[in-house]
Amino acid sequence: MPTLTLDGRRVHYLDEGAGEPPVLLLHGFPFSAEMWRPQMDALAGPRRLVAPDLFGFGRSDVPADETDGDGWSITAYADQVAGVAEALGLGPVVLAGLSMGGYIALDLVRRRPEMIAALVLADTRSESDTQEVRQRRADQQVFLRARGDVASLADGLADAVVGKATADREALLERVKAMMTANAAEGWIAALEAMRTRADATGVLSSIAVPVLVVVGEDDPLTPPSAAESMAEAIPGARLEVVPAAGHLSNLENPDAFNRVLEEFLAGL
Ligand code: MLT
Repeated sequence: MPTLTLDGRRVHYLDEGAGEPPVLLLHGFPFSAEMWRPQMDALAGPRRLVAPDLFGFGRSDVPADETDGDGWSITAYADQVAGVAEALGLGPVVLAGLSMGGYIALDLVRRRPEMIAALVLADTRSESDTQEVRQRRADQQVFLRARGDVASLADGLADAVVGKATADREALLERVKAMMTANAAEGWIAALEAMRTRADATGVLSSIAVPVLVVVGEDDPLTPPSAAESMAEAIPGARLEVVPAAGHLSNLENPDAFNRVLEEFLAGL
């Protein structure tokens, strides 16, 4: 399994297939690069797909020296992603982020546009958190600092993100929970900090000058099709695709439809 080191911290990543431009896949919270397995299996070969484990997830090191996540940010993950792209010598990439991965992609759009040949925003939004969501994340951090028990949060979270009409929902819920609980509390705490303090990225949308695919599960309860529509409307020339029978994890819940939409977009570049 490939790893590299950035500022003394180990980063694990998947890197499969060949072809230009590479597709750099950013996972959501609280997952890891493994959430892109259905895309790796179906599309890598003639295409090069690279997916890092963000700090604190999968087999990458936890982000903060204090391991309590204080001060961690979406920008810090974005710097990690840019570091991976540089270390692997990737030229401009097709940057694809799902949910939290999309927050990170939009940070790179603002600060490192030269890295990006095209953009895929999946089940994500450009707005920052509402006050209510910020408070919920802060409560989750308090709980995790005290108890470290990711499993009890994973149950509710998995049930909330997977669409009610998703095929084999029970089996998928077990897979999703296994992915979530494989990550230590420190990784969750840092990501919760990063998400709840993130800046609103809506202002950058109208300046995006590369091809963009906005994709969303039709039953996504967290970042619903209405959020995807407004984002696509604000981005010049963006294409919007709705994945049927899928919730917030559209790439896992209906991989065939998601892969078709992604492959069509890549083929048109
Ligand atoms: C994700 O899937 O990355 C999270 O649901 C994003 C969020 O909680 O805002």
